[in-house]
Amino acid sequence: MRADFGEWDKFPTEEVYLDFVFKVCAEYRRILKPNASMVLFFGYRHAGWIAHELQRRELFTFRMPLIWVKDNPQPSYKKTSFRSAYEMGLWLINDGAKHAQPRTFNFLTQARMSNVMSYLIGRDGHKRTQHPTEKPELLTRRLVEIFTDEGDIVLDNFAGGGTTGVAAFKAGRNAISIEREAKYVAMIEKRQKAVEARLRDQRNDKRA
Ligand SMILES: C[S@@+](CC[C@H](N)C(=O)[O-])C[C@H]1O[C@@H](n2cnc3c(N)ncnc32)[C@H](O)[C@@H]1O
Repeated sequence: MRADFGEWDKFPTEEVYLDFVFKVCAEYRRILKPNASMVLFFGYRHAGWIAHELQRRELFTFRMPLIWVKDNPQPSYKKTSFRSAYEMGLWLINDGAKHAQPRTFNFLTQARMSNVMSYLIGRDGHKRTQHPTEKPELLTRRLVEIFTDEGDIVLDNFAGGGTTGVAAFKAGRNAISIEREAKYVAMIEKRQKAVEARLRDQRNDKRA
C-alpha cells in the first residue's frame, strides 16, 4: 500500500518526475545566492541518483545526506514490510565545483551537528497542522540556523503547512513560502500571523 499524500505527489511517469526535479533545480541555481545551501528531501529510490546527477551536471555540489529519524513512525498496517522511519534530505551547495564551500555554515554544538537528527512527527508527537507531510518545526529550525544568518531570506517553494517559514521567523530570518493549494496557503497565513503576533508581544515585553 502506498500512502496517498495529495495530487502534488503524483506524476504520470518517473521520467516526467525527474524532468520536473531538474527543471526546478535549474531555477534554484539561478535564484539562490552563490554558494547558498539548500536541503531537498526525496524518497530513498531517487535521492542518491539525483545527488549524483546534480553533481555530474555541475549544477550543485552534493555535500552530505541529512537524515531525519522519525521517533514515532507510522504503524505498518499490512505487516508485510518494515515501518518507514526516516527521510533523507540532500545538502546541496549552489556551486557546480566538486568541493565548494557553503556561503554560511554555523556550527551549533557537537550534539546538534550529527547528520542524523531524531524528531517526532509533529511537535510532542502531535501534528500541528492538517498538512499530511508536515516536517517537525525543530528540524527545519535547526537547518535554518546552520545554513543562514539572522536577516537572511529562507525560501520554501513547496511550503505545505508553512513549517519552514515559521521556523525562519522564530530564528530571526525572513521567509518566502510558496504553495499551490489554497487550503494550505490559508494555513500558512494563519500560522505566520500567529507567530508574528507572538514575536511582537515578546519584543514589547522586553521593552516594557
Ligand atoms: C511535501 S509537502 C511540504 C510539507 C512542508 N515541508 C511542511 O512541513 O508542511 C509539498 C507541498 O508542495 C506543494 N506543491 C507541489 N507542487 C507545487 C508547485 N508546483 N508550486 C507550489 N507548491 C507546490 C504541495 O501542495 C504540498 O503542500
